[in-house]
Amino acid sequence: MKLIVLFCIFILTLPVHAYVAQTTTATQRKEIEFLHWWTAHGEVAAFNLVKEALENAGMTIQDQPIQGGGGDTAMSILQARAIAGTPPDLVQLEGPSIQSWAALGFLYQLDKVATDENWQENLLPIARDVNQYQGHYVAIPITVHRLNWMWINRKVLRTYGLAVPTSWDELIDVFTRLKKHGVEPLALGKEQWQIALLFENLAFGYGGADYYQRAFINLEPQALNSQTTYDILARFRVISRLVKPGMSHIRWDEGTQLLIEGERVFQISGDWVLGELLAGKVSVPATIGCYPTPSQQTGFIYNMDSFALFDSPRSHEETAKIVSQTLASPEFLKAFNKVKGSIPARKDIALDGFNSCSVNAKADMQIAAQTGQLLPSIVDSMAVSPLVQQATSSEILRFFNDENMKPKDFILHLQNIPRGE
Ligand code: GAL
Repeated sequence: MKLIVLFCIFILTLPVHAYVAQTTTATQRKEIEFLHWWTAHGEVAAFNLVKEALENAGMTIQDQPIQGGGGDTAMSILQARAIAGTPPDLVQLEGPSIQSWAALGFLYQLDKVATDENWQENLLPIARDVNQYQGHYVAIPITVHRLNWMWINRKVLRTYGLAVPTSWDELIDVFTRLKKHGVEPLALGKEQWQIALLFENLAFGYGGADYYQRAFINLEPQALNSQTTYDILARFRVISRLVKPGMSHIRWDEGTQLLIEGERVFQISGDWVLGELLAGKVSVPATIGCYPTPSQQTGFIYNMDSFALFDSPRSHEETAKIVSQTLASPEFLKAFNKVKGSIPARKDIALDGFNSCSVNAKADMQIAAQTGQLLPSIVDSMAVSPLVQQATSSEILRFFNDENMKPKDFILHLQNIPRGE
């Protein structure tokens, strides 16, 4: 919705701004302003590698970190700055929003670096289309994050003689037993995106990839109004009752801290948690284990981070060239993803030296790709338009918080979400 409004304002005020306008009059700037939402320890450690790489290429970085996992706040600030005519030079973007920004004429075209680095051949297939607009590359693919992970404090689980759950009903049973021992099972903050991510894991894991695609990506009325959705919502309700008493307004990385300290036993979140654990020198998987959340088959829910260069009167083509060449290089991508906890968006980068959770994630991704179980996240801006993403996530949050909300109302509300961009 916000992007539609932005689009209208933009078209009315700057009708001559053309797609991929390359400003050649500005003198080359050495300072790059970079807007992103990497503020946790692991994220900052990874971001420092961006800084280092660009500094080695003769640039300086003016860092604009915006707190808020999942990037909602960062994206609102980006929109405000774009409307004001002062977008940052470099931005962390995800999913369909890349195309929306390109359609508005904001993004530099990166075909030169795409050709030099042979992206058509070297990128993972899931990283190709999302970084292109009308056949031109407009963003640099950086990470693939796996979102269906359970991070488990093994010691606490062992203390109570409990096994790692392999189904959602087992997971509910383990949570119930932990509660009986007075232990809070799940590190989960009250933020919408954290709760929506938990639901996404449950919906995908319990319902399977085909159901998840039809119900939550295509919003097919029949798939939504199925017994599977009722079964999922019943389990979501039980989980909400078990975990709500232990919840507070914590960020995801504060949740990871509670997990490390043994104050919580599970965290269900993406492998940015791995980056956080590695930054804290926690041994993974010996102390905190990584297990795929229960699913019918080996499944993989992903999101991806990309970097986009924003075109503005102060940008310079030579600067854009240096930045894109530096950040698209396999050396940079390898070093960055190792620290971030993610998988490089290029398939030709070996994972030697990576944590075994990342190596397992890549193996599972390859299996999932062959069996139709590799799907984009609805919650983390990958699969659907920002409008659908926001509307779906806010219904999930309502259902989680409101004991009186009936499954049929949840289903009805989702069926009524407008599909526009
Ligand atoms: C995601 C992003 C990750 C990670 C996470 C938590 O949206 O893709 O890189 O930063 O948010 O902040």
